[in-house]
Amino acid sequence: MPKIKITETVLRDAHQSLLATRMPTSDMLPILEQMDKIGFHSIECWGGATFDSCLRFLSEDPWERLRLLKKYMPNTKLQMLFRGQNMLGYRHYADDVVEYFVQKSIANGIDVIRIFDALNDIRNLDTAIKAAKKEGAHTQVAISYTTGEVFTNEYYVNYAKQIESAGADSICIKDMAALLTPYETESLVKALKAAVKLPIQIHTHSTSGLASMCLMKGIEAGADIVDTAMSPLALGTSHAPTESMVAALQGTEYDTGLDLVALSEIRTYFMGLRDKYIKAGLLDPKMLATDANALIYQVPGGMLSNLLSQLKQAGKEDQLTAVLEEVPRVRADAGYPPLVTPSSQIVGTQAVFNVIMGERYKTVTKEFKGVVRGEYGRTPVAIDPEFRKKIIGDAEPIDCRPADLLKPELETLRQECAEWLTQEEDVLSYAQFGQVAVKFFEQRRDKQFGLDGVHGNAEKQIHPV
Ligand code: CO
Repeated sequence: MPKIKITETVLRDAHQSLLATRMPTSDMLPILEQMDKIGFHSIECWGGATFDSCLRFLSEDPWERLRLLKKYMPNTKLQMLFRGQNMLGYRHYADDVVEYFVQKSIANGIDVIRIFDALNDIRNLDTAIKAAKKEGAHTQVAISYTTGEVFTNEYYVNYAKQIESAGADSICIKDMAALLTPYETESLVKALKAAVKLPIQIHTHSTSGLASMCLMKGIEAGADIVDTAMSPLALGTSHAPTESMVAALQGTEYDTGLDLVALSEIRTYFMGLRDKYIKAGLLDPKMLATDANALIYQVPGGMLSNLLSQLKQAGKEDQLTAVLEEVPRVRADAGYPPLVTPSSQIVGTQAVFNVIMGERYKTVTKEFKGVVRGEYGRTPVAIDPEFRKKIIGDAEPIDCRPADLLKPELETLRQECAEWLTQEEDVLSYAQFGQVAVKFFEQRRDKQFGLDGVHGNAEKQIHPV
C-alpha cells in the first residue's frame, strides 16, 4: 500500500514559478493522457495566476482549458489554488461571487480546492470552505507559512485548529517563499500532526536549494502528501523533482507506488518543452539556479525581482539594500502579514516608497492604507493604534470580516458585461479581471469572425506562489 502521495504541479505552479505562467493549453494536451495514468494523488493545473495569464497573455479561455484538462485526465483529481475571498483577483469579492466561482470551478472539473488567505485570517476562508464542501470537492486550506518572532509552532497549531473546526478536509503548509528549512519542517509537521487529525501536505519551493530535504524531513515527521514537479520544470524557483522524490522513497515505508519508467516518458516530453521555452526566452536559465538569498532577506524570490524592477524604473537600483532593510520594518508596522500575493506586493511597494522618497510614509499607497485599516482582514499581530491613525487619519478601522461590508454583486457584474457573455462562466472572468477580460472577449469575438491578430504586449509580473 503506497504511503506518501504526490501532487504534481508541472501544469500550474512549476511554470508559474519558472516562466511567468506562460505554458499554453496546446503544450499540455499531448501529454495529459499519459499523466492521467501515473496515479498522482492530484495534479495541480488551474487557479493561481493561470487564469490571469490565460486572459491577459495567452488569449485563452481559462474555463475551456479546465474542461480540456478534465476531458483528457478523467481519472486524476484536478487541483486548483485560490485566495479565499480574493478568488484569483486582487480585491475582496462579495460572498455571492465567491460561492458562484467555487460552484463553477467544481462543475467544470476541479476536484481539490486549495484555499489560502494572505493574512491567515480564517474568516476570509469561511465562505469558500462552505461553498466547496457543499459542491462535494476536497477542501484543503493552506497555511501561509512565514518566519518572524510571532510565527511559532503555537501560532501555526492555533491556526490549524481553526482550519479543522471550519470543516477543511486537509491542511497544506504553503511555503511560497521557500523559507522552510528541513528541521523546521520536521518540527512544524510534528506539532501539526499532534494537534489536528487532518492529512498534512507540504508545498515548498526549491529556490534556496532545500526543498527535497524539507519534504524528506516532513515525510519522516508524518506528512501525508507532498508537492513536486516533473524534473524538466523542477528546481530553481519551482519545486523538488517528482522522479527524485519517487526514487528516494521507493522500497521504504514511504513508497509512493509511482512507476519511474512511466514518469521518465513524461520527462522526455517536458524536456522538449523546457528547451523550447529556453530558446523562446520564456524560461530564463537563471530561474533554475539555487539562490539562498531568500533565507537571508526572508522575502520571496518573486518579490525580490519585483523590488529590483520597481527600483530600476525609478533609476534607484543602488537602493536595493536599503529597501530590503525597510521591508521587515514595514511588515512589522503592518502587523506582520505573511509575504504572499497580495501582501507581498503591498508591503514591497510601500518599502520602495519609504526609501526613494527619503521619508517613511510620506507617500502611502491606497493598498497599504487598506491593510492598515483592516480591509484585507485581521493581521497576525494587532496594528499599533497610533501608527494606524498616522496612516488612515480619521477613517474608521474595520474589525469585522471584510466581506460582511460587501453587498451581493453578481447581478451588477453580469449586467456590466452582458454584451460579451457566451457562457455563464464569463461573468466570473469579468468579475476578476475587468478590462483584461473584456479585451479577451473582444479577441474571442474577432477570432470567431476571422479578424484576430490583435494581442497585448506581455508584461512580466511575478507573484510569489
Ligand atoms: Co507555490
